[in-house]
Amino acid sequence: MNESSATRIVQRVDARYRYEILVDGRRAGLTAYRDHGEQRVFFHTEIDDAFAGQGLAAELVQWALTDVRESGMRIVPVCPYVAKFLKRHEEFADITDPVTPDVLRRLEEELG
Ligand SMILES: CC(C)(COP(=O)(O)OP(=O)(O)OC[C@H]1O[C@@H](n2cnc3c(N)ncnc32)[C@H](O)[C@@H]1OP(=O)(O)O)[C@@H](O)C(=O)NCCC(=O)NCCS
Repeated sequence: MNESSATRIVQRVDARYRYEILVDGRRAGLTAYRDHGEQRVFFHTEIDDAFAGQGLAAELVQWALTDVRESGMRIVPVCPYVAKFLKRHEEFADITDPVTPDVLRRLEEELG
């Protein structure tokens, strides 16, 4: 099956604090977060090597950030990929908060 006919699905997996992108039912990557009150703090995004360079990270993050908006929450981009994505997608600027030392300290405690 070629790339264009593959089925891509993004889902939020609350129990694992992450969004996953599936390609033909196979997990191809994820973006991970923790919630600090109304802030959803994104700290890591990865796409499996086998699926790299196909725009999957962009699709995954676009879906995740749209879900944050629909949930009435705000975005904090600790993950460099998400930060870079937001620089190119100003439509999320109104719901984006800066990465502060407090955010990083709490995240470090949570992630051990
Ligand atoms: C970064 C990563 C998620 C990109 O996945 P992908 O599906 O191949 O990405 P896309 O095709 O949607 O986009 C590629 C873009 O990601 C950018 N990118 C690659 N690594 C990056 C990084 N560490 N930080 C920010 N951007 C990165 C590329 O420069 C490219 O940008 P361009 O659109 O200007 O060319 C993937 O390469 C990966 O899993 N890397 C290892 C883990 C990692 O470094 N994660 C990011 C920080 S948490």
